[in-house]
Amino acid sequence: MSFLHNLMGILVDKFQIVGGKALDGEVVISGAKNAALPILLGTMLTKEKIVLKNVPDLRDVKTCIELLKILGKECSYDENGSLVIEGKIHNKVAPYELVKTMRASIMALGPLTAFLGEAEVSLPGGCAIGARPVDLHVKGLVAMGANITLDEGYIRSSTNNQRLKGATFVMDKVSVTGTENLMMAATLASGTTIIENAAREPEIVDLANFLRMMGADIKGDGSTTITINGVQELKGGEHSIVADRIEAGTYLVAAAATHGRVTCKNVNSSLLETVLLKLKEANALITIEENSITLDMRGRDILPVDITTAPHPAFPTDMQAQFMVLNAIAKGTSTITETIFENRFMHVAELIRMGADLKIKGNTVMCTGVESLNAAQVMATDLRASACLVIAGLVAHGTTIVDRIYHMDRGYEHIENKIRQLGGTIERIKG
Ligand code: EPZ
Repeated sequence: MSFLHNLMGILVDKFQIVGGKALDGEVVISGAKNAALPILLGTMLTKEKIVLKNVPDLRDVKTCIELLKILGKECSYDENGSLVIEGKIHNKVAPYELVKTMRASIMALGPLTAFLGEAEVSLPGGCAIGARPVDLHVKGLVAMGANITLDEGYIRSSTNNQRLKGATFVMDKVSVTGTENLMMAATLASGTTIIENAAREPEIVDLANFLRMMGADIKGDGSTTITINGVQELKGGEHSIVADRIEAGTYLVAAAATHGRVTCKNVNSSLLETVLLKLKEANALITIEENSITLDMRGRDILPVDITTAPHPAFPTDMQAQFMVLNAIAKGTSTITETIFENRFMHVAELIRMGADLKIKGNTVMCTGVESLNAAQVMATDLRASACLVIAGLVAHGTTIVDRIYHMDRGYEHIENKIRQLGGTIERIKG
């Protein structure tokens, strides 16, 4: 009963935020969620021990570890806080009740098919921001020789006890996890695989670095063409997860929106160049050190900035909701166009309830800056929308309640502690 009660509690947790204060101080950026998840699933490509450092303490990571255990891995944290994963996978089924809580589980399909020769992975289904199809993942595996059927909501994949074969294919759309799934599968295929129109996100490069550490032969990651020469087997080793550029971008936007000054540590500015350019356009002062970024917006007007999301290295869709708060209180009008997901404007209605002047026209939001936002009770609908509402709560004078913050716990490590470190007033109200 206590487990269910806890689970229900998590589902109704709220944040209570008292806003109107400038954030000030330093925050240490954690390992990237969107690098940790494919890398965790990539450990299935070897039976040898893997040690992962800088793994963020997130609900999605916990879910992924549960999935690895179901599939046959032993997972534990050592005395240094590194995650140790070992053992040989022997179960081919990634179950619905787990996959439905974390879409990234679809990336079990490639490694399971490549290592075990068979897989049964529940179709992840859509989510709040869109239909999230996985047709490109399936097409790539079929091109490598996998037989794939879809029934009862599961993707069943089999190589009929053959090795996957290297193939050349063009991704119809730029897909981050699609590129990652197929790159992982190709590492153990016989022959050469060429992925054209590949995603170029920094998390793809971090996954490639991890796989190369295991002995994979991969070139071109970070460009639109990735070439993988398959090997017989991959070995164990150690890897440190790259910093989370979206977490860093989120705190920098929060600093700008509250006219504060924040230094993000343990993150290299090369991971989020486009976001930094747009923050400079918004009139923020940005200082770059070797492994830290400082944003200073004290006493400075926020200027409006037009944003269009697109695959890396363009402006990331995962920063769209956060930047909308900045444009909502900028001195002037701006537009934000979302080109990746068909339904990623659910934070707009909540921001309007806080006094923002926003109008949706198709996949573009017209923003007219207002003096400030008003505190209100609002509801989070997805991971980055919840980040947007927390920033809005830090901006608005008075007390804002953000409901359904379990979305937040999926992707932001210890967020209330980090915001308190920056002088923000935020409490988690247990459900
Ligand atoms: C990854 O999702 C990220 N998740 C998302 O981050 C991120 O928003 C997204 O990439 C875009 O950058 C992880 O890395 C775990 P896509 P992914 O496949 O891979 C279409 C967050 O907030 N598409 O790049 O699922 C799709 O509909 C999350 O951290 C197909 O049509 O996204 C979308 O329009 C949210 N068929 C576009 O491609 C496919 O088979 C890009 O999606 C796959 C995708």
